[in-house]
Amino acid sequence: MDFIPYGRQWLDADDEQAVLSTLRSNYLTQGPQIAEFEQALCQYTGARYCVAVASGTAALHLAVAALELPEGSEGITSPNTFTASANSMVYCGIKPVFADIDEDSYNISPSEIEKKISDKTRLVTAVHFAGQPAEMAAIAAIAQRHKLKVIEDAAHAIGSNYPDGSKVGNCRYSDLTIFSFHPVKTLTTGEGGAVMTNDPVLYQKMVLLRSHGITKDPDAMSQTSGPWYYEMQALGWHYRLTDMQAALGISQLRKIEAFKTRRRELVATYNAAFSHSDLICPPREAAGTQSCFHLYVVRIAFAKLGKTRAQFMQQLAECGIGSQVHYIPVHTQPWYQKNYGCKQGDCPKAEHYYESCLSLPLYPAMTDADQTRVIAAVKKALA
Ligand SMILES: Cc1ncc(COP(=O)(O)O)c(C=O)c1O
Repeated sequence: MDFIPYGRQWLDADDEQAVLSTLRSNYLTQGPQIAEFEQALCQYTGARYCVAVASGTAALHLAVAALELPEGSEGITSPNTFTASANSMVYCGIKPVFADIDEDSYNISPSEIEKKISDKTRLVTAVHFAGQPAEMAAIAAIAQRHKLKVIEDAAHAIGSNYPDGSKVGNCRYSDLTIFSFHPVKTLTTGEGGAVMTNDPVLYQKMVLLRSHGITKDPDAMSQTSGPWYYEMQALGWHYRLTDMQAALGISQLRKIEAFKTRRRELVATYNAAFSHSDLICPPREAAGTQSCFHLYVVRIAFAKLGKTRAQFMQQLAECGIGSQVHYIPVHTQPWYQKNYGCKQGDCPKAEHYYESCLSLPLYPAMTDADQTRVIAAVKKALA
C-alpha cells in the first residue's frame, strides 16, 4: 500500500528535461535561467520586479532588510504561520508582535492588527494561510493610516486571486510579497523562493543584498580599477538561487493553472464528502477570491471524539495516510516566550484553532483513488 503524504511535489518529464538541459549548459548557477524565471514570475503575477532567492525564508529576510526600518521597531504578524514570518523581523532587529487570527478565515484579523499598533510599529507581515488571501484591502488601509510597510507572506498562495480577481504577488496591497518553492508548496524549485515588488529602489537593494552586498555593475561603483573589480556596498548574504533550480521553476510555472485546477477539484471533493461529518471543512472562500489551496485543513473536536490528535494521526498513518498540523502558534514557541515574553493566552483564537486543526493530504499528483482512501480512513477514524 503506497503511503499518501500530506503534501508533495509534481514533477514530470518536462521538468526533468529543463534541469538536464541546464546541467549540460555552461551555467549551473547565475546563468540566463534566473532572469527568465524572474520575468516569468512578474508576467504571471503582474508585479514589476522579482528577485529569485534560495528559500522563502531568505525572501522574507531580504524583504524586511530592504525596508531598512529603525532597530527597535515593531512588526505585526500572525501567530498562525511558520516561524520564518516572525523570525525575518528578528534578523533585522525588529520586535515581532502577534495579532490574533480571525476565527472564520484563520488569517490575521485586521481589527486585531489595529489593537496591536504602537508608536513603534512600522511593519505588518500578513500571511495568506493555506492559500486563502488575508484581508489585504483592509490591511492596506490600516497601513496607510498608520504609515506602516506591508509584506505579504504568500508562501502558500502562488496562484491565488484576491477578491478583486487580480493575482497574489502583484503587490497592489503591499510593498513586497514573498513566495516559497519548497517541494510541498504549489510549485517547487527544490528549495527556493522569490520576492516580488513594484518599487525599483527596494528591488535594487534586494539584488545587492542577495549576493553579499556586492556589485559588479560599473555604473553603480565608486571607481573601476579593472575587469576583476567589484565593490561591497552593503552587508548582504549569499541567498542566490541556482540556474538549475530556476530552470525547474520556469517549467513548473508553466503548469500552475493545471496545479490550481486539480487542487481546487480535490478540495471540492473533500468538502462534499465531509459535508455531513463531525468535522469542520476549511473556510469558504471570500466572494471573488480563487484560492490555489496549499493545505486542506479540517477542524476536529478530538476530546469529544474520545481520542487525542496524536491517536487520530496514528490511525490515519496505519492506513498509509500522512497528516500534519499547521500551525503551532508562533508566540507559544519557547524561543519567543524566552526572548519576547510571549505567553499562552496572548492570541486565544489562534490557540483555540490549534487545538483542533489537522491538515489532510492535498497535492495535484493525488489520484481520485488516493483521495477515496483518505476520505474512507478519516471517516473511519471519526466513527
Ligand atoms: C507561511 C510560510 N512562510 C515562510 C516559509 C518559509 O519558506 P522556506 O521553507 O522556503 O524557507 C514557509 C515554509 O514552510 C511558510 O509556510
